[in-house]
Amino acid sequence: MALLAALAASFVGGVAAWDPSLYTSSPAVLPSPNTTGIGWEEAFAKAKDFLAELTLEEKTALVTGTTGPCAGNIIGIERLNFTGLCLQDGPLAIRQATYASVFPAGVNAGASFDRELLYKRGLYIGEEFKGKGSEIMLGPVAGPLGRTPWGGRNWEGFGADPYLSGIANAETVRGIQDAGVQATTKHYIGNEQETQRNPSTADDGTTIESVSTNIDDRTMHELYVFPFADAVRAGSASIMCSYNRLNGSYGCQNSKMLNGVLKEELGFQGYVMSDWGAVHSGVATIESGLDMNMPGGIGFTNSTPSFWGANATAAVTNGTIPESRIDDMVLRIMTPYFHLGQDKSFPLVDKSSADINGVAKSNFGYDFELGPIVDVRTEEHTQFIREAAANSTVLVKNTGSLPLKKPKNIAVFGNDAGDFVAGLYSLTAGFSADTVEQGTLASGGGSGTGRFSYLVTPLEAIKAKAKEDGALVQFILDNEVITTDGIDTIIPTEDTMDTIVPPADVCLVFIKSWATEGYDRATLEPQHNGTGVVNTVAAACNNTIVIHNGAGPVILPFASHPNVTAILLSHFPGQESGNSLVDVLYGAVNPSGHLPYTIPKSEDVASPRIVNSTALVETTDPNAWQDPFTEGLFIDYRYYALQNNSAVAYPFGFGLSYTSFALADLAVSALVSNASALPDASAPIVPGGNKDLWTPLYTATASVTNTGDVAGAAVPQLYVNLAAAGAPAGTPAWQLRGFDRVDLAPGETKTVEFELLRRDLSFWDVEAQQWRLPSGTIDVQVGFQYGKAEVTGSLA
Ligand code: BGC
Repeated sequence: MALLAALAASFVGGVAAWDPSLYTSSPAVLPSPNTTGIGWEEAFAKAKDFLAELTLEEKTALVTGTTGPCAGNIIGIERLNFTGLCLQDGPLAIRQATYASVFPAGVNAGASFDRELLYKRGLYIGEEFKGKGSEIMLGPVAGPLGRTPWGGRNWEGFGADPYLSGIANAETVRGIQDAGVQATTKHYIGNEQETQRNPSTADDGTTIESVSTNIDDRTMHELYVFPFADAVRAGSASIMCSYNRLNGSYGCQNSKMLNGVLKEELGFQGYVMSDWGAVHSGVATIESGLDMNMPGGIGFTNSTPSFWGANATAAVTNGTIPESRIDDMVLRIMTPYFHLGQDKSFPLVDKSSADINGVAKSNFGYDFELGPIVDVRTEEHTQFIREAAANSTVLVKNTGSLPLKKPKNIAVFGNDAGDFVAGLYSLTAGFSADTVEQGTLASGGGSGTGRFSYLVTPLEAIKAKAKEDGALVQFILDNEVITTDGIDTIIPTEDTMDTIVPPADVCLVFIKSWATEGYDRATLEPQHNGTGVVNTVAAACNNTIVIHNGAGPVILPFASHPNVTAILLSHFPGQESGNSLVDVLYGAVNPSGHLPYTIPKSEDVASPRIVNSTALVETTDPNAWQDPFTEGLFIDYRYYALQNNSAVAYPFGFGLSYTSFALADLAVSALVSNASALPDASAPIVPGGNKDLWTPLYTATASVTNTGDVAGAAVPQLYVNLAAAGAPAGTPAWQLRGFDRVDLAPGETKTVEFELLRRDLSFWDVEAQQWRLPSGTIDVQVGFQYGKAEVTGSLA
């Protein structure tokens, strides 16, 4: 087998040598498998009855988007009491609506390592979608996974590990769907950079195709498909295919990935939805497994031709596409709709969505009833947002200055502390957080942002807290002023007016890193000279606490400065930002966030970069943009481990607490004796794949003790070594395969249990085209961060 030969070929530093010829084409897998409604049987029967009533035109309209009040719209069919479908972004809020909550971003939720938090976040966001009349949420995000720290959209997802991302996506999907809303896990697959995600036009008029993400079969399964499998297993109604090409063919017409891997291998019963404008052909996309075209265009002509709609009708009537394929698309779309009871009294689409989308009712070209503007925010949601952001805050340094002990004189520095001066909505015309310096980052940008109803800034919340304590709060928010006037701004001298007097007990420095859909991060360093701001303040203030908002990983060059006494990473915390932060600063919440990625020491030593170069930008070769994932499985902590972690500033899974924890008594029990190397071939394919892949083979337990004197939450993590157990070359030494978050009172001990599933202990055998358990004994480590075992054992 060609792929196996390539993997067996040779290895450089543990990574398979790369033969580009093997990955620039993708085999055809046809025809598209039909859904049988596994797990959704009752709804499937209803969908069949519904289908039986439809004309061909109605069927093709049902699979093709059209103009309407939402980000994506499927037209209703009045005669059948079907009011259509309203699709809205996105992963952290219902974006195109007023009076809705903005939740902490995916990266925050991932940093919590907290299943309950992940589930509730999904549930509450789902409730707001339902309240606003949106049947389909465009989230959560399993791709990008975070292969490169420069990726513009990594923060929408949960972290750079497939196991963490898998659990996080599954919990989020369950939450959203328990609220009665369909989840769309996106972007499938390999959408790891924004640069050239869509085709462009060269100066000579040539269409330059999207970047081709070229991934070998094993890496595809073990890293990038892995979290999608969890989402499918959790019942994700929809999967959104991505803009990029994948091994040479567009993500939304890659039949190997859609028909082959998603529908056959993973037994996906829902529908594949295109990303917006990611459809570049008609018949080929339908045959390749795409089921819904967004934003579509149901007529023959449209300002952006959809290739579907009336064209799809013509393709059936002229015999190119069998009508049974369109029928399957309809069944895939309507089954989750009935399963979630969306046919029963679902709220009308909120009028604010239409207003924000700038679509007047008369422009729809069809009758669409809108509902009143409703406020979907609740006390429960607000409280959750505050707690979730606090709990997901990652404390990476603390020499004892935190929690604060009622300081009387507080100085606040930096452009991330106050209100965002260009408006709270990141997609507003003219907005760019790269150029607009002033204001705190509580969300990233693009379709995954939120429309804030309000935002509590750090400065505002610190002032409110200080007032209770009768403390002074002085601030300088202009980075330029701080770094230009330098030390004089902080220590009073005779010749300066810009002073903080008397010297503060604590200097809180707020720095930030913007990230957005549409382009990748230009730097991993804090923006707007954040490092200069920290160094300037720290030179004068021996109790400097740094708070970073925004995308991670971020380089922290000042981390070892003796006057920098604490560093907190709050990522994109959502609307309660300042309150959540104050809760952590003053110890009302003991931080328990852990890094869902690795922080390298500098940009030079960071794991793979995005593909970009002047030559590519100026190319006239349509096929020039190629991104070979030559590192295979070695991304993030797996990558740094290849150099003995010499590049690591803060490891994956790391996060401090105001208390300390100890782990002991690792015990393992086998649940299946003599497990076969391959899953039971006779087991049915259910959503998620061969059912036997999800069989628990072992449980591991350990006891965790709070050894300090305040309450806190520990995050024990279990890593397995498949490489030493005989998995083929190219296997990273330690990989995350279990985690838990446990609340512990001082002195308290609890037992944590990790369930180890067959899939999680197997590698993808490219020759057998199956998950295979390594033949030897698998060693396990449990600790509080990657690479530091507190207890060890083996699965025997
Ligand atoms: C993004 C999707 C989003 C869609 C609709 C696209 O540009 O990639 O994530 O759901 O727009 O707004």
